[in-house]
Amino acid sequence: MLNVAVLGSGRGSNFQAILNAIDAGTLQGVRIALVLSNNSGAGILNIARSRGLPAVHMSEKQFHNEPSFVDAFLATLHRHGADFVALAGYMKRVPPRVIATFRNRIVNIHPALLPKFGGKGMYGIHVHEAVLAAGEKVSGATVHIVDEEYDRGPIVLQRQVAVRPDDTPETLAARVLQVEHQIYPEALGLLADGRMISPYTQQPNIEQEST
Ligand code: GRF
Repeated sequence: MLNVAVLGSGRGSNFQAILNAIDAGTLQGVRIALVLSNNSGAGILNIARSRGLPAVHMSEKQFHNEPSFVDAFLATLHRHGADFVALAGYMKRVPPRVIATFRNRIVNIHPALLPKFGGKGMYGIHVHEAVLAAGEKVSGATVHIVDEEYDRGPIVLQRQVAVRPDDTPETLAARVLQVEHQIYPEALGLLADGRMISPYTQQPNIEQEST
């Protein structure tokens, strides 16, 4: 069972897709431990509240310094029993101490086919603008493990969508979002099942043959 803390800053449609998959029984082995947002007005917090799930607003601005913010952040995750983190539109950098504490147990969804169109400045509509400007024929979405480098961790799942000649950044974003909503629950299911092996959730158990 993965006890997942979902971190987001905005509307929360990926979180809603995860909840829908849990409700439908297509995503098993995942419990939402809490939702945490840096933005008190985020839709993702309202979705959590409407489901009676713990919804926490926590922003670095509420603290005197980064270490005390990170202490409170980690304490909150631990208090709610989270052992896994899913970023769903979280617009803040995940502090290195959180990444180290949850090594290989933090995933993110990105609205492009990484490693292309990732990294600094590649968020939201900018991603789709860049894809169209580059004349790409396909785009898509990627679920990946979060490490210290933006959008560079190992890829868990990726799915393509066609780029149409008449696409605008907005129409492309909408098509990619549909795929995000499919692959995020699927990826969490793979991780919860242990079907993704090392370095994600467990080490492979390789028996040495004696000679
Ligand atoms: C998604 O496009 C996701 O790929 C990106 O942020 C957006 C979040 O949307 N990381 P939502 O809050 O899940 O609707």
